[in-house]
Amino acid sequence: MDRYAHIVGWGKYLPREVLTNEALAELVDTSHEWIVARTGIYQRRIAGRRESTYTMALRAAREALQVANIDPRDLDLIIVGTATPDYLFPATACLVQDALGATRAGAFDLEAGCTSFLYALAVASRMIMAGANERVLVIGAETLSRIVDWKDRNTCVLFGDGAGAFVLQASDAPGGVLSAMLGADGSGGPLLMIPAGGSRQPASPETVRRGLHYVRMDGRAVFRFASRVMSEAASEAIGAARLTADQIDLFIPHQANLRIIRSAARRLNIPMERVFVNVQKYGNTSAAAIPIAFCEAIEEERLKPGDHVVLVSFGAGLTWAAAVVKWQIPIPVPPPPRHLRFRRWLRYGWAILRSRFRHLRRRFDAWWVRITQGDVA
Ligand code: UT7
Repeated sequence: MDRYAHIVGWGKYLPREVLTNEALAELVDTSHEWIVARTGIYQRRIAGRRESTYTMALRAAREALQVANIDPRDLDLIIVGTATPDYLFPATACLVQDALGATRAGAFDLEAGCTSFLYALAVASRMIMAGANERVLVIGAETLSRIVDWKDRNTCVLFGDGAGAFVLQASDAPGGVLSAMLGADGSGGPLLMIPAGGSRQPASPETVRRGLHYVRMDGRAVFRFASRVMSEAASEAIGAARLTADQIDLFIPHQANLRIIRSAARRLNIPMERVFVNVQKYGNTSAAAIPIAFCEAIEEERLKPGDHVVLVSFGAGLTWAAAVVKWQIPIPVPPPPRHLRFRRWLRYGWAILRSRFRHLRRRFDAWWVRITQGDVA
């Protein structure tokens, strides 16, 4: 029997702090008019001091699990798509797994620049369709404000922070993720990169002095690449789902630049009324952009059962990806009853206690081994 991967839960998190173009113009030589005319961005969100990719991913994940009414212990896999993980390792997905108490789930991060979320969605849906997993949590989360050079007007005006999450579940009912295509052209890597901090140029006082830990981008070249690849990727995914562009009810593109979005819609012959845009509010949140936009499309009741949605993205690598989803769930979704929310709240409290206990036990074990066996060396 055929298996399908349906989106049964969704959630997003955006930090409270809003950074407007006007406020940015006090930091670098730019203006509200230039940013709006060239990008369509009016403001972006900036993570607070106590926030990170993990904390935002967790908030989005909890919301998605609540909508899906799925116990974290029933998750098989957690994938976090991000270019700004909390650490090089452990994976941010493992931090989320621990905090959720998703004790049966495998967890890993996936890095494909801004395309990470769609890459993760493709992996998750194929794991489900192949029969390997039943329920997978897919997250896109970024804290780009920590990797942009706030003195570089070519990049700092573009990016923002946030997170979005989907819960995918196996089903026999046709629908869900109908197709997904992935692409890459590594020869374009230098167009959008962080030169230092990896194994090629490890962090040193010299790399820090030269600002090599910040995003470097050839904006014009990325713009040209994006304008072309968005429509090509979307067309390929639409064809793979055996549909045509006029059967697409909603187009949710990567939210990097309104001009790129308009150009892709024009090439695909999709009118702007069927295109979801929120880049004006959040800027480019990289891997978080698509799931955040998807959540807002649901909140605005832009989807109804049977609708076909195209998701398409591009990013560092260079990478690109697109997916076609057949939406099945009537909107609005009623909030879960109070007692279920309370039970979930208790469960997350228990997960945190469990995690602390396991930390302590590891320290105790290490101490006990030292006391009883002495230093092996
Ligand atoms: O998720 C992937 C991430 N990356 C992207 O999506 C980036 C794609 N590229 C773009 O969105 C656009 O190329 C930008 C928004 C980055 C730039 O827009 P543009 O229309 O390609 O401008 P430009 O780079 O051709 O620059 C035009 C002028 C330049 O001045 P000159 O050389 O003509 O005198 C820039 O120095 O605008 C200047 N400029 C700015 N002026 C005011 C560049 N950034 C700014 C700024 N404020 N923030």
